[in-house]
Order: sequence, then structure tokens, then C-alpha cells
Amino acid sequence: MQLLCQLDDIKEGHSRGFNIGDIAIIAIIKEQQLYLYRNRCPHRGINLEWLPDQFLDADRQLIQCATHGALFLIHSGQCVQGPCLGQSLEAIPFTVSEGAVFIDLKSDQPTDTPRLDSED
Ligand code: FES
Repeated sequence: MQLLCQLDDIKEGHSRGFNIGDIAIIAIIKEQQLYLYRNRCPHRGINLEWLPDQFLDADRQLIQCATHGALFLIHSGQCVQGPCLGQSLEAIPFTVSEGAVFIDLKSDQPTDTPRLDSED
């Protein structure tokens, strides 16, 4: 496992980009849930954003690729509109421990996306 960031580095309803070595990562918190994906559009294999940390559409309800406008569900990474319809962003397994986010770039297993609040 590798430290990505502190949980406080990502604001509720917003996205951030990170680079770990040559791997670009998208982090989003929506409704107290953290989602991590590789920053690589399945259409052309390039980064999604054209401005730093800007991965969401205008309503901040979907992940948007800036190049051709593909839209992806935040909770699954599945493309629901655009040239890569039906394909998905690659989820990155992670754990949250003592306010820090750790990623597992070697694992092929998807994360169980633990909730960040204390209700569960
Ligand atoms: S590169 Fe993302 S939609 Fe074409």
C-alpha cells in the first residue's frame, strides 16, 4: 500500500488529481464516499482533464473527459455517454486509515469503497 494523500485534501463534492510515479489518479468524494480511478480515458487512453483537478461536469454529478466529452458515473466509473459508451474508468483499490488514503496499485481487486462517515 502506498500513501496517496490525506482525506482532508479532497473536498466533499469535488475532485482532485494526483500523480504517483507515472500513474495519474482521479480522487472524488461524493456523499461522504471516496472514489479513486486511474486518470485515463478508455476512449484514447489520455488524461481526462484540461484544467488541474477539474474532472467533473458542470453539475458535479458525473466525471467528464475534456477531450470528447465522455461522461462517467462517479460511483462505478462506467461511461454513460460519449465515444467509449459502456466502457469504464479503472478503479484503484484503496483503504483509509487514520485520515490518510492508501492505494494498492498492484492489486487487481476493486475496492469495497468504504464509507467515510461513521454511520456504517
Ligand atoms: S479521449 Fe476521452 S472521450 Fe475521447
